[in-house]
Amino acid sequence: MKERITIAKNYIESKTEFKPEVIIVLGSGLGDYGNTIESVAAEFSYSEIPGFPVSTAPGHAGKLTFGYKKDKRVALLSGRFHCYEGYQAAETVVPLRTLLMLGANFVILTNAAGGINMDFQAGDLMVITDHINFSAHNALTGPNIEELGPRFPDMSFAYSKRLNRLLDEVAEEKGISLRHGVYGYMVGPSYETPAEIRALRVLGADAVGMSTVHEVVAASHAGAETAAVSCISNLAAGVAQHALTMEEVLEAGKAVASKMRALVDGFLEKI
Ligand code: HPA
Repeated sequence: MKERITIAKNYIESKTEFKPEVIIVLGSGLGDYGNTIESVAAEFSYSEIPGFPVSTAPGHAGKLTFGYKKDKRVALLSGRFHCYEGYQAAETVVPLRTLLMLGANFVILTNAAGGINMDFQAGDLMVITDHINFSAHNALTGPNIEELGPRFPDMSFAYSKRLNRLLDEVAEEKGISLRHGVYGYMVGPSYETPAEIRALRVLGADAVGMSTVHEVVAASHAGAETAAVSCISNLAAGVAQHALTMEEVLEAGKAVASKMRALVDGFLEKI
């Protein structure tokens, strides 16, 4: 993967001198945050960047935008790669690691997730405090990239307590109510069975989704301060009394997009 990351980095550097500080990864239905960038410095479709995988998931545009937002130099990844598309975990984090190689040291990730915690409702936002990877995949599998970080990185502080406090402050100031909880990662693409959701609840997950954990591991490996927020797009299987559909997930993402935008904007001011 190091070759792919290096090729991608060299391509980006041949097109722009812009060096991002903050990486924002946009999940299902939240992709339009890119349109709120105040001054765009460069824009790439994933397909033009050599080394990048090609995005296939619905609701994911596949675009990298560099620009200024709240006086911060940000890189927006609109569209991400998932193992359920057939990519290896290490491939899914090529875009993020390319930006980390360019020197970014803050990462904020957003996603859509199913609510497992019985107190949650569709439309809630949840700050991820920790995760459980219920898969046999890890983003750092393969030769270690020494320039980014150590072979066996600690994950105790993968979700920055400082950044989570800032998110709480912004939410309080803007009157946005925030949940906090543990994100359980499942590969998908089938949604979980009701029995799996009961098992995940017993094991300590508050929400479940098919993304984000590989990016958090890769960001933490590189020493970047990282925060992640889930939009609880639906109640997970068995909690909800109806069948889950992708449309429901995308619609819920759109409905909370303005809250998520306000949260991320406020966060960029404080970071
Ligand atoms: N399960 C897994 N991933 C998801 C869900 C879900 O219920 N909702 C949104 N992403």
